[in-house]
Amino acid sequence: MARTRLIAATSLHPQSPVAEAIADLWWLMLVLGVIVFLVFAGLLVAGLRRTAPEPSEDRAPHRRLVARWIVAGGVAMPAVVLVVVFAATLQAMRAVPASAPADALEIELTGHRFWYEVRYPAEGIVTANELHVPVGRQVAVRVTSKDVIHSLWVPALGTRVDMLPERTSTVVLQADRPGEHHSRCGEFCGIQHTNMELIVVAEGPDDFAAWVSSQQRFTEPTGALAREGRAVFVGARCVDCHALRGQQTAGARGPDLTHLPGRRTLGAGLSPNTRENIADWITDPQAIKPGAEMPTTPLTPAQLDALLAYLEAGG
Ligand code: CUA
Repeated sequence: MARTRLIAATSLHPQSPVAEAIADLWWLMLVLGVIVFLVFAGLLVAGLRRTAPEPSEDRAPHRRLVARWIVAGGVAMPAVVLVVVFAATLQAMRAVPASAPADALEIELTGHRFWYEVRYPAEGIVTANELHVPVGRQVAVRVTSKDVIHSLWVPALGTRVDMLPERTSTVVLQADRPGEHHSRCGEFCGIQHTNMELIVVAEGPDDFAAWVSSQQRFTEPTGALAREGRAVFVGARCVDCHALRGQQTAGARGPDLTHLPGRRTLGAGLSPNTRENIADWITDPQAIKPGAEMPTTPLTPAQLDALLAYLEAGG
């Protein structure tokens, strides 16, 4: 599968109809703000350069002029600007879908301290920290949280919604073009709030279908070392928190590790997904991401090697 283009997390490079409407509104407000600023800065300079009237002069025309400026600049102009901005805001709001269409792809996104659980109920897929979406199709993302309030925030797609515990909110998301959008948790949720990153991977329909079918495949590893690793996975209690190969475990407190090799990052965007980084993560997660719920797992080098082989066997 070809790697897609990485797009900066900014709302000024909109990649969806909603984000485009919001960006247009932002530019309109910027232009109006600049015009108002320039007019008032000009008036301020003109006022400072005026000479004071002589005490003998008739002040009545001066007072009338002042009153006219106050009405025009303090009432009429703000009213016009606010009406224009209000109308443009209503127009932008129409771009935000109120509800998802019946044929929308459904994804369940759950915030945890400090990672994202991603489920595709109809497809039977569970993954973490990566949200794969097909380009041009509306996606209904049902968001909730397992612990505290997190926030799904994808500036390039114009998406922002709080992830609340014991409550599910739905946001409709649509990407126009293929690309990878980095999204950081938008609500302070604890010590590793900054290191809670979700990558939204927008793919063409064929790439997305290929990803779905690759995620749906489960195969048990056949190599001797990987089979040994499976024993370590169970014996060292990794299995208490992590699911693997579709097996639902008691805790499911940590990310599902099926197809881990296909993911871009470890620790929700913290480090590139390499064998060395996985080893470091297992050996001392608190040194890498203090405050994460993953405990240190004491393993011999041989056990670690076997465990890595098991995780690398993918799905
Ligand atoms: Cu999760 Cu901030």
